[in-house]
Amino acid sequence: MNIGFFELEPWEKEILQKNFPKDNLFFSNKKIVEGSVGKQTNLDIAVAFVKSQFNKEVLDKLPKIKMLATMSTGYDHIDLEECKRRKITVCNVPAYGINTVAEQAFALILCLSRKILTAANQTSKGTFRQKGLRGFDLKDKVIGVIGTGNIGKHVIKIANGFGMKVIAFDAFKNDKLQKEFNFKYVPLNTLLKTCDILTIHIPENKDTHHLINKEKLALMKKTAYLINTSRGGIVDTDALTKALQKKRIAGAGLDVLEEEKDMFNGDKVVAKDIGKEEMRTVLENHILLEMPNVIVTPHNAFNTQEAMERILDTTIKNIKGFKKGRKINVVQ
Ligand code: NAI
Repeated sequence: MNIGFFELEPWEKEILQKNFPKDNLFFSNKKIVEGSVGKQTNLDIAVAFVKSQFNKEVLDKLPKIKMLATMSTGYDHIDLEECKRRKITVCNVPAYGINTVAEQAFALILCLSRKILTAANQTSKGTFRQKGLRGFDLKDKVIGVIGTGNIGKHVIKIANGFGMKVIAFDAFKNDKLQKEFNFKYVPLNTLLKTCDILTIHIPENKDTHHLINKEKLALMKKTAYLINTSRGGIVDTDALTKALQKKRIAGAGLDVLEEEKDMFNGDKVVAKDIGKEEMRTVLENHILLEMPNVIVTPHNAFNTQEAMERILDTTIKNIKGFKKGRKINVVQ
């Protein structure tokens, strides 16, 4: 089979060659988007990460494609309807970063609660003093977890370790989990009104897009912090920027941003004909980046060596399974 691996790192190539000795492999460190398919139009299987876009235009250029293997948990960069129409199997890596993403959520929380970035910036400039650096304890604070799936559950475990009080909201409650993980499900609005830290761990889809909007942010405490390590589009950027500017909430820790693909390609945004709304979001992202009470990381929550090895391992299993007709980790 012709298998194309995109967004690949050099260390992964040798492992893949050993695992697929009889296939025709193509390797690229670049993402796959319209215009970057190049000569690789005969691929049977395409493998890529979240910066690639498998939309109609890209799929049109891959007429033989039978399987897409995303090396991520989320698959909102893949047009599933279009894949269904073309009978393309889509597989993902459902659980490589359970602890990895949860740990990043807490890294963001601790940076905000203990003003770590401000403190380190000051000391690196030779200013060794504590003025303005007073933080707050996590112990006894209420953390509101939206999404009690794989990552959300691990966040709850860590939060319990910190002595926090945990409340959660999920579209599908799991009562057994409440007892096992020592937390309580509450309605979304109650969670927003009550929590000191809000952390989001749900997929982005039509139901969750802009779930956290102006009305929802208005329910939160002025002292509360919002943490998002799931997908940028779950939070309405315009509403978040305004809530922070008006001090409606205290701060935010964001690993993901709406329209983040345009943040990765800042130089291309000016050359591209992007819509007014998209441009507004990109500009608001820049406002967020400059706020002292906001920490932004570049969709990096997954990025540990251990997680990358788990991703590669599962992706290899996904491809081998597909080739043998025993499909695993199928999104659709
Ligand atoms: P999961 O599928 O195990 O859990 C998702 C949870 O969200 C489930 O409990 C589900 O019932 C709940 N849910 C779904 N729709 C909902 C809705 N409309 N309202 C409330 N709850 C809803 O997923 P997992 O592994 O915990 O990952 C969560 C998200 O984290 C992924 O979808 C992905 O977008 C993001 N992620 C981000 C990474 C990063 O590097 N920043 C890396 C990996 C995942």
